[in-house]
Amino acid sequence: MSSEIAPPVSVDAGDPPAVKIDGVAKSFSGTVALEPVWLKIRRGEFLTLLGPSGCGKTTLLNLIAGFLEADAGELFIGDELVTQVPPHKREIGIVFQNYALFPHMNVAQNVAYGLRTRRVSRAETRQRVREALDLVKLGDFADRRPRQLSGGQQQRVALARALVIRPRVLLLDEPFSALDRNLRTAMQVELKEIQSRLGLTTVFVTHDQSEALSMSDRIAVMSRGRIRQIGSPSEIYDRPQSRFVSTFVGDANLFAADLLGRDAGAASLDVGGTRTSLATYQDECPAPGPVTLVVRPEQCALTAAGEPGTVPATVALSVYQGSYAELYLDCPAAEGGRAMLRVPASEALAAGTTVGIRLPDTGPAVFAREDEGAAA
Ligand SMILES: Nc1ncnc2c1ncn2[C@@H]1O[C@H](COP(=O)(O)OP(=O)(O)O)[C@@H](O)[C@H]1O
Ligand SMILES: [Mg+2]
Repeated sequence: MSSEIAPPVSVDAGDPPAVKIDGVAKSFSGTVALEPVWLKIRRGEFLTLLGPSGCGKTTLLNLIAGFLEADAGELFIGDELVTQVPPHKREIGIVFQNYALFPHMNVAQNVAYGLRTRRVSRAETRQRVREALDLVKLGDFADRRPRQLSGGQQQRVALARALVIRPRVLLLDEPFSALDRNLRTAMQVELKEIQSRLGLTTVFVTHDQSEALSMSDRIAVMSRGRIRQIGSPSEIYDRPQSRFVSTFVGDANLFAADLLGRDAGAASLDVGGTRTSLATYQDECPAPGPVTLVVRPEQCALTAAGEPGTVPATVALSVYQGSYAELYLDCPAAEGGRAMLRVPASEALAAGTTVGIRLPDTGPAVFAREDEGAAA
């Protein structure tokens, strides 16, 4: 059959999925680290587990890797049930934050380690180690010891060591968090390139929202041992379904508002005395009563003070950021009395200037006040 008439690859790219997590849960001596999780990771997908420290990201990763035994549930890699399979038989590549290279072995020996334990022949090992080192651009460093390498180079060795076994799934736990910002960005680009070139199913753990937004096909946002929302980066950023997700991912202005009514998707609100009506996107709009209105800084516009329908505020501080300025505003209608807008640097205003904040007609979300306690 010629490739022109081959059946198209299914959009879902995975039945069975690369990884299926079916009600997997974990507690440590009575303390819940991970509530039961159901999750299907698609073949070739870059999935990020994002959440604050202690929310259960590493626990979930270690359950997939087999370093931890689940209290409940089942785990599949491809269509193989692996719940009882030891880590080294799961064909998974792992990269940790702290490199974890063997100090007494050179780079090539470190990378070859997983092949030696799998009894791959010497000739094939040499060939595959060379390929893996070329992939991470360390072809000339095979004889060095880890201590003779920079942090970024050590992390590339760790990546080559994970890739050389041709894993079914690549797991990375905050792999770049020890690197400085420029190097970190470079490594993100490089990993993303390698991952998409190889079509490698990848689960990436981070607490850094910008890292998650820039690298992922999908993000699972976690707090307190639960996945709170899962979706593409733009679904997570543009359509957060809870106050926690909207504030953990991206900047948000929070206004204490009263929801007066809801009609055909339009919410009418009283925001600190200012009446407004706007279209929300969220799946479940709360009942009328006290709510939190969540608006991204770029959805707000600055007006002269006293414009009808705008929320009154006073410039407290203008922070120059190069191409733009961040205006921190004293705003009685905002929770904590603070709002933030970005304006072109040339339009920065002096502290003490009174202004109005124009809220958008569409786009923001309102959440019931009781959701506020759900932060991690
Ligand atoms: N081996 C362990 N023994 C006891 N508690 C643990 C252990 N590992 C993790 N925990 C607890 O489980 C929760 C989730 O931890 P972890 O998965 O490491 O979070 P994250 O990686 O998101 O920072 C935390 O409260 C942590 O203290
Ligand atoms: Mg962790």
